[in-house]
Amino acid sequence: MANLPPMIMELAMPTPHPNPPPLAGEGTNDRSATISFSLMDENATLALAARLAAQLQPGMVIYLHGDLGAGKTCLVRGVLNALGYKGRVKSPTYTLLEPYTAAGLELRHFDLYRLQNEHEWESAGFRDEFDGVNILFIEWPEKAHIPPADVSIELQILPQGRCAVIKGHTSTGRACLKQL
Ligand SMILES: Nc1ncnc2c1ncn2[C@@H]1O[C@H](COP(=O)(O)OP(=O)(O)O)[C@@H](O)[C@H]1O
Ligand SMILES: [Mg+2]
Repeated sequence: MANLPPMIMELAMPTPHPNPPPLAGEGTNDRSATISFSLMDENATLALAARLAAQLQPGMVIYLHGDLGAGKTCLVRGVLNALGYKGRVKSPTYTLLEPYTAAGLELRHFDLYRLQNEHEWESAGFRDEFDGVNILFIEWPEKAHIPPADVSIELQILPQGRCAVIKGHTSTGRACLKQL
């Protein structure tokens, strides 16, 4: 939160919905915790990113779901900015992976949209990035067989703004959600 002026934080504060509707495919035995936020504009997305940044733990795996243009990269940019990262945060559309160091944390931003096949994933050594230390943000995680998420964030495009549905799938993920 530190990098956003207090005025913007006030105006942009995401609005929590205590009882979000279930997502498609959500089973009755699903033990995930879920929380959702209305994000009226980009500043609200950045404010949510700043809250998430304050709860990150080394080794966390965060899946980012949503259509092209939903705000997945915007959210990662907001996290990095909130952690004090001053460089440019560009989409890993073609590189597939962009690495960052910020606030003493190692972060990795994947965008697997253009991943060709499982072989490309293995041969690039991407699996080694899941080392229990790196914090991984992964756009289009369904494109490869990758380790499961602690937290998944689905960004839905609405006529006005976005809705973020955030789920904690592990004890680490659920603890993160509680503090958001
Ligand atoms: N809550 C929001 N409401 C409206 N527009 C938003 C919101 N959050 C982000 N945006 C805009 O949506 C776009 C998201 O782009 P990007 O983050 O590259 O999407 P993705 O990575 O999901 O393909 C950006 O133009 C950003 O300004
Ligand atoms: Mg993106």
